[in-house]
Amino acid sequence: TLAEERVLLERSKTMSVITDKVTIVGAGQVGMACAFAIVSQGFSHHLALVDMYEDKVKGEAWDLEHASAFMRGGLKIEASSSYDITHSSSVCVVTAGARQREGESRLDLLQRNVQIFKNVIPKLVEESPDTVLLIVSNPVDILTWVAWKISGLPKERVIGSGTNLDSSRLRTFMSQRLGVAAVNCHGYIIGEHGDSSVAVWSSMTACGVRLRDLNPKAGMEDDPENWEDLHQRVINGAYDVIKAKGYTSWAIGMSVSWIVRNLLRNERVTHVLSVHAQNLHGIKEDMYLALPAIAGPTGVQKIISLQLTPEEEAQLQKSASTLWEVAKELKM
Ligand code: NAI
Ligand code: 2OP
Repeated sequence: TLAEERVLLERSKTMSVITDKVTIVGAGQVGMACAFAIVSQGFSHHLALVDMYEDKVKGEAWDLEHASAFMRGGLKIEASSSYDITHSSSVCVVTAGARQREGESRLDLLQRNVQIFKNVIPKLVEESPDTVLLIVSNPVDILTWVAWKISGLPKERVIGSGTNLDSSRLRTFMSQRLGVAAVNCHGYIIGEHGDSSVAVWSSMTACGVRLRDLNPKAGMEDDPENWEDLHQRVINGAYDVIKAKGYTSWAIGMSVSWIVRNLLRNERVTHVLSVHAQNLHGIKEDMYLALPAIAGPTGVQKIISLQLTPEEEAQLQKSASTLWEVAKELKM
């Protein structure tokens, strides 16, 4: 409710950046791309890196730390396979877990990564009971829900990286098609970070002009300009990169770093995050999926009420039920 949002916002005003300590669990391709993006942009000066392989995570930490002379404000990086170094983190980013092999979907990873979460999440919460958990491991929406259930934290303080990356992919492709900068192209991909995601064509704009004012059929089946092709490229984006280089890393690293910046600094920028979506847009299931939201030091403060068309709302509900059908079979 509006009253609850106000309370969270008021509380967050008194809380912004007591410490900028960020923990990242999983020092693989994604975890280290997040770490690099966060410290190289000066969003945090204190990282704790955790991985099950102690030598590897220490090596990563030393390598990054050797860049201290090129960073303003100093840099402290701790690395370990144990969780005591994560104590009192403002944000804990979880990237630990299996990634897709060529041809696998994100949902195929679920049971493997749930086992890892049962080990990781309680330790993070024990060390940092006031933290915001930011889940990145896939399938991110269901694992955010799993992390929420395991952690016992309020739903506002457990979020996922959602379709923030997919929305950036869309804006990149819009920019290439229209010949204007991606920062001037606005549009959301919502729902599952995966194959059932929903492109919100009805509210996309470029340089303040609504796409559907230029082309009323943009994104529809009988669209002569076939804008839906951009959404298909978003869905296939990760598969294409994985086929070519084995994993995705740089764009998710940048996406996560900007979410972290907002969690620490309370700048009230909208990101498309996995949030608890039950009772929004007619979604009945107890499920997390991606919607535009504002999050700060207390976690999610506001979920934006999009004006969806009936078709878009139906697609979003379908995305929620797709996730729920998988999640309800989970062995926790
Ligand atoms: P990776 O294999 O390079 O790294 C995973 C790391 O997790 C490894 O260093 C491994 O040692 C560590 N790990 C595994 N179990 C652990 C445990 N119990 N405790 C601590 N560390 C543990 O994989 P990569 O490419 O970094 O991907 C990580 C995850 O991120 C995958 O699930 C992938 O699908 C997901 N991902 C999510 C994206 C998103 O938009 N949400 C984008 C890209 C990847
Ligand atoms: C991505 O979209 C694989 O979820 C990962 O890059």
